[in-house]
Amino acid sequence: MTGSAAAKTWALDSLDAARRRTLALTDHLGDDELLARHSPLMSPLVWDLAHVGNQEEIWIVRRVGGRPAMRPDLDGLYDAFEHSRADRVGLPLLRPAEAREYLAAVRARTVDVLTGIELTDEAVLRGAFAFNMTAQHEHQHGETMLVTLQCREGPAVLSAPIPAPAETGTPLGEVLVEGGPFLMGADGDALDRALDNERPAHRVDVPAFWIDAAPVTCADFQRFIAAGGYEDPSWWTGAGWEHRIDAALEAPLFWRREGDLWTRRRFGRVEPVPGDEPVMHVCWYEADAYARWAGRRLPTEAEWEKAAAWDAAVGRAQPYPWGLEEPDRSRANLGQVFLEPTPAGSYPAGVSPCGAGQMIGDVWEWTATDFGAYPGFRPLLSREYSTPFFDGRYKVLRGGSFATHPHAARATFRNWDLPVRRQIFAGFRTARDAD
Ligand code: AVJ
Ligand code: FE
Repeated sequence: MTGSAAAKTWALDSLDAARRRTLALTDHLGDDELLARHSPLMSPLVWDLAHVGNQEEIWIVRRVGGRPAMRPDLDGLYDAFEHSRADRVGLPLLRPAEAREYLAAVRARTVDVLTGIELTDEAVLRGAFAFNMTAQHEHQHGETMLVTLQCREGPAVLSAPIPAPAETGTPLGEVLVEGGPFLMGADGDALDRALDNERPAHRVDVPAFWIDAAPVTCADFQRFIAAGGYEDPSWWTGAGWEHRIDAALEAPLFWRREGDLWTRRRFGRVEPVPGDEPVMHVCWYEADAYARWAGRRLPTEAEWEKAAAWDAAVGRAQPYPWGLEEPDRSRANLGQVFLEPTPAGSYPAGVSPCGAGQMIGDVWEWTATDFGAYPGFRPLLSREYSTPFFDGRYKVLRGGSFATHPHAARATFRNWDLPVRRQIFAGFRTARDAD
């Protein structure tokens, strides 16, 4: 196979995997469930369903394929900037059956475009980039739909989680990352898949620092609560404390105190909070307050990437903590297999060269850094994917969660959200300067 044929096959498999997941998440749900507003923070599931098709029509069929629009009448309905998530339930959305038909019709053309196209060196086409981005976009919405199902009230609609593997073995505590420059962001072969905001790769000097070998656990976070962390403004930033008061924060979202026991609701089931699991459903302000209470701070985005990817032995940053190979189940908890994070210390085979574990998978990790453009940034395929979010209101999250597909998880991948958001599958780890 030529390189180009291999790239096409890879992209097609990725698109297929994304579509199987989209359909598996929605096939078993009745129209009422799909059309309902389960949370004002989330779209009705049927919106995500048709939106991935509309985005694929715009990016692949029209833009890359140069073909006539199929359903230009849908563009406004499924433009994420035109209507807030809370309001989408009131729009004349496609019914679930119509949405599925539309998805299939778009996909047939996408496959046709991919088959016929010559993959030149142009950034949008090299390595089938546009198709890979389209697949990653659909996978991101797969995770979003899973977040919607987490927000949903009422009895579970997902089957009970498969227990995550209990094999731990990564030493806990903190690990040292040596000081010095590294190349941050994606380059080389990674450009077949890296989204615009991961580019261009650029040298960043990062002084030596210590970082937690694993994400902060629920037991750790319970100690912060028990120590009165939510009652003491000295651990919180000004904006954080204001939000803590306004939103009456007193524990992670979905947690409840029942006597001496903390329970949490997960996908419609109530269970005791597992102490050894990475804490989730805390906002940036809560993560930041915990870090100060612990005498530490959140890592910067550059620190996070260096801890995940820098390999002193080869003198460069690698695509994954363990090196070049694609993620598999021995190295990271990704892809919605277990529906929960694994205990801190899991995946000893997935640790980075400095000894940081679970950098990829399990929980997204809040960083100290505002989402922004790398020097020399240029939008790629879509002006709207990253640029509107470079306004200083969003914090960077790294690493991917148990719900993130392996094709949308890598050491350079950047996610972002507002510092008040808690419904996403996000936790954090802490760091400190080395002196
Ligand atoms: C990268 C997860 C913040 O959901 O807002 C989906 C991904 N962008 N459709 C989001 C995205 C457009 C994005 N995040
Ligand atoms: Fe989208």
